[in-house]
Amino acid sequence: MVRVGVVVGSLRKKSFSKQVATNVASLFAPGYETEYLEIGNLPLFNQDYEGELETPAEYTEFRKKVSELDAVLFVTPEYNRSIPAVLKNALDVASRPYGENVWSGKPAAIVSVSPGALAGFGANHHLRQVLSFLNMPVVQQPEAYIGNIYELLDENGKLNEDTTQFLQTFVDTFTDLIKRYNA
Ligand code: FNR
Repeated sequence: MVRVGVVVGSLRKKSFSKQVATNVASLFAPGYETEYLEIGNLPLFNQDYEGELETPAEYTEFRKKVSELDAVLFVTPEYNRSIPAVLKNALDVASRPYGENVWSGKPAAIVSVSPGALAGFGANHHLRQVLSFLNMPVVQQPEAYIGNIYELLDENGKLNEDTTQFLQTFVDTFTDLIKRYNA
């Protein structure tokens, strides 16, 4: 079984990003299992946790979970043209201590979600920049910018047919990338 971690950059209960993540997670072929990673419980990163202060148990657990994954799917909203702090915090936590970056080498895919027409372009590309430094190979094409999200989800949180078809192509490209790196 190939383990794909799903990281959502919103803690909001009725988050559009979470709803999109659920749709995307359902598109993986048999043989892939998706697992949501909790990031809202991680204390704000403080480098003193690498020395003077005891490492929070949540950090240890999160780093272990990430290290056991074969790939990571990021689904995120955009906050002020960048990624939400909660997502950046999680990225930072599992990148440390220096030399023990557990994201490294894991294939990744990014979906940005927004009620606006720009579809989280800024967040999508800021995240790409961070994942590049974390040494994660990322799906380049197709890019997944899911804008005008109000119009795409029905009352049960299901995406419309066209968007689902597009995301199926996106997931298939992602699984091709995963196969290349985990062969
Ligand atoms: C936003 N929102 C937003 N949207 C966008 O397209 N670009 C942006 O730069 C921002 N900036 C921003 C900052 C902050 C602090 C908040 C709270 C919101 C709106 C945002 O897309 C909207 O609230 C989404 O519903 C958030 O995603 P979830 O929680 O539905 O997944």
